[in-house]
Amino acid sequence: MDKKTIRDIEVKDKRVLVRVDLNVPMDEITGQITDETRITAIIPTIEYLLEKRAKIILCSHLGRPKGNVVESMRLAPVAKRLSEILGLPVKTTDDCVGPQVEEAVSQMSPGDIMLLENLRFHAGEEKNDSAFAKRLADLADLFVNDAFGVAHRAHASTVGVTKHIPAVGGLLIEKEIEMLHKALDVPERPLTTIVGGAKVSDKIILIDHMLNKVDNLLVGGGMVSTFLKALGYEIGNSLVEPDKIELAKKLMQKAKENKTNLVLPADLIVADKFDKYASIAIVPVKRIPKARIIMDIGPKTVDAFSRIINNSKTILWNGPMGVFEYSKFSKGTKDIANLLADMDAITIIGGGSTSEAVDSWGLASKMVHVSTGGGASLKLLEGSPLPGFEALLDKE
Ligand code: 3PG
Repeated sequence: MDKKTIRDIEVKDKRVLVRVDLNVPMDEITGQITDETRITAIIPTIEYLLEKRAKIILCSHLGRPKGNVVESMRLAPVAKRLSEILGLPVKTTDDCVGPQVEEAVSQMSPGDIMLLENLRFHAGEEKNDSAFAKRLADLADLFVNDAFGVAHRAHASTVGVTKHIPAVGGLLIEKEIEMLHKALDVPERPLTTIVGGAKVSDKIILIDHMLNKVDNLLVGGGMVSTFLKALGYEIGNSLVEPDKIELAKKLMQKAKENKTNLVLPADLIVADKFDKYASIAIVPVKRIPKARIIMDIGPKTVDAFSRIINNSKTILWNGPMGVFEYSKFSKGTKDIANLLADMDAITIIGGGSTSEAVDSWGLASKMVHVSTGGGASLKLLEGSPLPGFEALLDKE
């Protein structure tokens, strides 16, 4: 990685402001954290800073409170869980800036850990307001960005602070960037990308960028309908993006020119309505009945995709193959997840709903890497720079 990390600077006795992504899902009724992946992912950085005797000031957002104090978006439950995992106290504050926070920080000893209150309670955070960034930066001697999940946002706590104090990467951001960089730029081939999700428009840039890189591009999910429409097939009542049909044609043409193996489903699972109790049928891709909706890839497609995946050395997966939230339509996504989990290959899962699916079936630990950032990993796969990463100090 061409950016400095915590290993490249002296942190002993220093006040270190660490931006983490503790935007964890919580049960709306009980307030319980339902997935603690993002908490466990930052432990290596915290342990490194503890070992080096730094004063650790963690900061994060939670949800989208849009500059207001929202009680249900306070970080105290996350601090509690972090403290349990570390087996150490984690102090909290009622705000992320201001005299009380400054006082609490001034009382810290090396090895202390504090989690500041939700950054997004201040409108200045998302606006990357320079005065707010300065107030945050003034709390510390050094800044560490370990919030890969929010590295695609140019906010006060990801970019603004770096204008005021030396800024380096944490161990999670380093791991995330290196995994994705290796897979994209110096992959063990064959390299296969599986792309899914509801809309072509969400993944156009990714597909376009991937067509310059991969050996195989397997397409599943709701976006298939726009490609099928571009080929002139009947797609029933499936969601289609009419303004993206020409683009789908261009992408298929580009794949031909680049000699990239772009593979569309051979069969699909369709339903009479978008509902978990809908009646379903498996149909060949050229015979989708009118008034049916594409909900998942079919068994022949799973077989065809599996053959290609089994012959690949690196597999990048972004986007589910169907409406996996409904068990009737989760089979395609689940079959692919199980296949990847059993493989001896470099398996990388983009964040967001793909990680959610893999995690819900207990398969996350069987993948080489599961990204903690949905939007951020999508940006990387699109070939776009991440402002929160670019702002860090370059290695000499
Ligand atoms: C995420 O959950 O993807 C990150 O925490 C970023 O959150 P945001 O989309 O609200 O900026």
